[in-house]
Amino acid sequence: MSQKFEFRVLPGIPAIAQAAADEFTRVAREAVRDRGIFMVALPGGSTPKALFSLLAERTVKKVPPEVPWAQTHLFLSDERYVPPDHPDSNFRTADEALISRISIPPSNVHRVETENPDAAFAAAEYDQEIANVFHLEGDAQPRFDLIFVGMGADGHTASLFPGTRALHELKRRVVANWVPKLNTFRITFTRPLINNAAEVILMVSGADKAQALAGVMEDDSGPDEYPVKYVQPTQGKLLWLVDEAAAGKIKSLPAAGS
Ligand code: 6PG
Repeated sequence: MSQKFEFRVLPGIPAIAQAAADEFTRVAREAVRDRGIFMVALPGGSTPKALFSLLAERTVKKVPPEVPWAQTHLFLSDERYVPPDHPDSNFRTADEALISRISIPPSNVHRVETENPDAAFAAAEYDQEIANVFHLEGDAQPRFDLIFVGMGADGHTASLFPGTRALHELKRRVVANWVPKLNTFRITFTRPLINNAAEVILMVSGADKAQALAGVMEDDSGPDEYPVKYVQPTQGKLLWLVDEAAAGKIKSLPAAGS
């Protein structure tokens, strides 16, 4: 039986990218073998850039085993509420490092249409796109084969920030979340959507995350203080890929668990 929980400490971002790319490829090939389609959500932030570049390089060089991009549907687990060509756009980051470098059907790439002048409407449109692609009825949650998320220095994940309304959204799949400390809206997957995934990979890098990661792993503080603690796939695997700098303040590393 594959592990339901695994916490891997790796030397740095390149090693995180390699482990993440290997898992991405493994899950993609199994999903396409079993169901003819692979549904994956990419993370935001800067840590994933190395993963995106590595997936692109392996694809260009046709390094086996290859990702079945024609049967792969790419989503984003959250998005900044900026135009898609804005430097802060998570879609732009993924597009520049990966999507523009591989041949994937454009209809398989599902970005948040942040051109929409109303953040709630942009979130509702993205929610509907997910419902359409997964053929969902009503408010059923999709079961992604793989969702990637990161963790901020404050313990946020996706765009579920401490003290924000989206943290307690238990019905909708995607919401617009006002983040006071950033003075902006974010569009984000919600806890029920994330936790319905078959596998969630948490990629965490940098010494600036060390305090929060030690708090997540060892404090008895609640998930409202460290929202990443809400990431608990109900019937899926949780894989942490963290670098030594981010793990630097953890006293005893968690053992893998089934
Ligand atoms: C974002 C992400 C956010 C990110 C963490 C880690 O849009 O920024 O949703 O949750 O994953 O803040 O970001 P870094 O990888 O840049 O440290």
